[in-house]
Amino acid sequence: MNPFIGETERDLASAVAEWSGTLIPRIPAAEKEGTLPRDVIAELGRLGVLGMTIPEADGGLGASAVAFALVLEELSAAWPSLAVGVAVNSGIVAGSVVRNGSAEQRRRWLPKLMDGNGLGAFALTEPTSGSDAASLRTTARVTEGGWRIDGSKQFITNARYAPFAIVLARVGELDPERTSAGITAFVVPLDTPGVSIGRPERKLGLRASDTSALVLEDARVAHDAVLGEVGKGFAIAMSGLDGGRIGIAAQSVGIARRSLELARAYAKERRQFGRPIADFEGLRFSIAKAESDLAAARLLALRAAWLRDRGRPFTREAAMAKLFASEMAQRATHAAVQIFGGNGYMRDYAVERYARDGRATTIYEGTSEIQRIVIARSLLAA
Ligand code: CAA
Repeated sequence: MNPFIGETERDLASAVAEWSGTLIPRIPAAEKEGTLPRDVIAELGRLGVLGMTIPEADGGLGASAVAFALVLEELSAAWPSLAVGVAVNSGIVAGSVVRNGSAEQRRRWLPKLMDGNGLGAFALTEPTSGSDAASLRTTARVTEGGWRIDGSKQFITNARYAPFAIVLARVGELDPERTSAGITAFVVPLDTPGVSIGRPERKLGLRASDTSALVLEDARVAHDAVLGEVGKGFAIAMSGLDGGRIGIAAQSVGIARRSLELARAYAKERRQFGRPIADFEGLRFSIAKAESDLAAARLLALRAAWLRDRGRPFTREAAMAKLFASEMAQRATHAAVQIFGGNGYMRDYAVERYARDGRATTIYEGTSEIQRIVIARSLLAA
């Protein structure tokens, strides 16, 4: 039972859970190869999952933020690398276009995020600007036919699969007193001349998810590539990240949940000292604590989503959910490895992968330290 979940949301989540369960045999090979199979992305498009956050008027499912959080939990429980690709495409990228795009931009770009031919990308981070996102150096200058964009973006999820990226670039000179001023959001098709994709990063986990650099050298886009208003891009990025953080909280919940499910099953089956290891109190207490934290994390994620669905402020609640859930996922995945003992350290057992995949959740879409800043600022604002 969960007070935030209605019947439609439960049905959507169980349909996705059933489908994503069929992917499990394919995961080890895809993780080894470092790619998400194209047919899986296409199937997500056919099932409507990619368009679930897009309003019905724009051709999507118009599902609630609660439903999306539940779906991300299910995708993550099955395959965290796939879930992060969907979270970025259908969360921050689709959400930014829906909230800030003109009618023409919505008509043009939203279908590309749900047709299953790719997954959209969000290009904020740069080699010298991660947590301090407003210090970005990519520039955009007006030219005759539109804009010229130059700069380097780093750690861009989905870059290799993306039909377009939302690129944050600075218009005008950097104002050291107000670094976010001038930052503008652009929709940049990745086949634009001057745009190139770097080699995929080699990562601890989430290996099937693409993380690559994006280089823009004299990349020309038309005037209508500006999303929202010139100079208002930082707020677009920040409010996009508010929603994205609910998605990462949900992802953390999914990763932790599956790790603990596997650990419980193993504990009942594995025998040492003449009985199942699940009989030992040390292990029972570890599971009891981890499952309690998991339940709390899920409630925090769904509370933030529920507020969002009601048009209420949710910046602080999303940051709290992301902070608590991602740190919970570290403890839960490591507890699961510990319960599996030597087997848990081996690649033959999925808990090893969940522990590696889950590690990213306290880092991307804002580190735990950044979430604490966001929460403290909101609590202690004058
Ligand atoms: N919604 C709307 N606007 C917001 C906002 C929000 N949540 N937060 C801030 N703003 C606005 C402010 O109102 C302010 O506007 P004005 O100048 O008009 O007053 C402007 O943005 C600047 O705000 P701050 O002064 O708070 O900015 P700051 O430089 O101090 O930075 C920060 C704040 C919270 C530290 C921010 O830089 C941040 O979130 N950093 C982390 C970046 C991050 O999460 N990166 C993740 C990369 S994307 C990713 O990981 C996706 C993936 O691939 C998985």
